[in-house]
Amino acid sequence: MLGKLNHVALVVPNLEKASQYYLDALGAEISEALELPDHGVTTVFISLPNTKIELLEPLGEDSPIAKYLEKSPDGGMHHICYEVDDILQARDHLVSNGARILGDSNPKIGAHGKPVLFLHPKDFFGTLIELEEV
Ligand code: CO
Repeated sequence: MLGKLNHVALVVPNLEKASQYYLDALGAEISEALELPDHGVTTVFISLPNTKIELLEPLGEDSPIAKYLEKSPDGGMHHICYEVDDILQARDHLVSNGARILGDSNPKIGAHGKPVLFLHPKDFFGTLIELEEV
């Protein structure tokens, strides 16, 4: 069921500053910023040879990552994203194993235009997990 690591997501207080720093200091390959109003975030993706890093900045009033920055104003790691072949099958398997899905349990379209789900961090030993169908 579990596929590749798609990305690791980092909350940053200033997306423009953070992506510019990745570009200048690390010579990273960065994407254009993309606003995802459904998710309350603006994202920039950094491409690495084996995976991606997603930089996240809050977007709008009810951004789910605004609280994160209140607690950790410098930013930090937010979630990791695993690939799955079939997101509904993965969801049902997880639910039958006692895992909780955040939101209404239905996949939403994520930053790559593909269906994603988030799993409750309490069920995954403190880490927020995103699943993306590829
Ligand atoms: Co993500």
